[in-house]
Amino acid sequence: MKTLIVYYSWRGKTELVATSISNVLDADLRKIEEVKKRKGLFGFISGGYGALKRKCSRIKPLNFSLSSYNLVFIGTPVWALRPTPAINTFISKANFKDKKVVLFVTMGGFGGNKTVKMLTDKIKLKGGIVIASFVVKTGGVKTEDIIKKGEEIGREFLIKKSNCSGLSFYPVE
Ligand SMILES: Cc1cc2nc3c(=O)[nH]c(=O)nc-3n(C[C@H](O)[C@H](O)[C@H](O)COP(=O)(O)O)c2cc1C
Repeated sequence: MKTLIVYYSWRGKTELVATSISNVLDADLRKIEEVKKRKGLFGFISGGYGALKRKCSRIKPLNFSLSSYNLVFIGTPVWALRPTPAINTFISKANFKDKKVVLFVTMGGFGGNKTVKMLTDKIKLKGGIVIASFVVKTGGVKTEDIIKKGEEIGREFLIKKSNCSGLSFYPVE
C-alpha cells in the first residue's frame, strides 16, 4: 500500500508530526507551501482571519498527484478553531474520489475536533473517505513528545497493515 503524508506547517510542529509518521511508515512526505511567506504579527493575524473566514491562500504548484497513493494523511495546524487557508486550497484542488484519508491536526489546546469535522466534511464532499483522525496538542508540549505522538500515529497504521486489515478501517463520522 503506497502512502503519502501531505501537510502544511507554519512554525514546524505539524511538520514534526508529519515527519515522524512518514519515518515510521516509510511513506512519501510532501509539504504544502504558500506563495507569500507568512511573517510576524501580520502573518499571524491575517492567517487567523483567513482561517476564520474559511479562505484559501495561494500555494506553490504541487509536484505530486494523489492518484499514485492508496492512503493519504493530511496534516494542518488549527487556526482560529479551523483548518489553515493553505490546506483549504490543497483540499479544493485535489481529487479525493474513493481515496482513503487520515487527518491529523496540531493545536495549542483547543479547536482540534471542530477542525477535524470541517476537514472531514470537505473531503467527503470531494468523494474521499476519512478513515481516522488525530488531534495533537502542541501547546506546552516538549518537542520529543510531539515526535513520539507522530510515531504513535504511524505505528497504529503499521499494526493495522500487519494484521492484513490495512484496507478495512472504519470511517469516522
Ligand atoms: C494564526 C494562528 C491561529 C491559531 N489558532 C489556534 C486555535 O484556535 N486553537 C489552538 O489550540 N491553537 C491555535 N494556534 C496554535 C497552533 O495551532 C499550534 O501552535 C500548532 O501546533 C502550530 O503548528 P505549526 O507549528 O505546524 O505551524 C494558532 C496559531 C496561529 C499561528
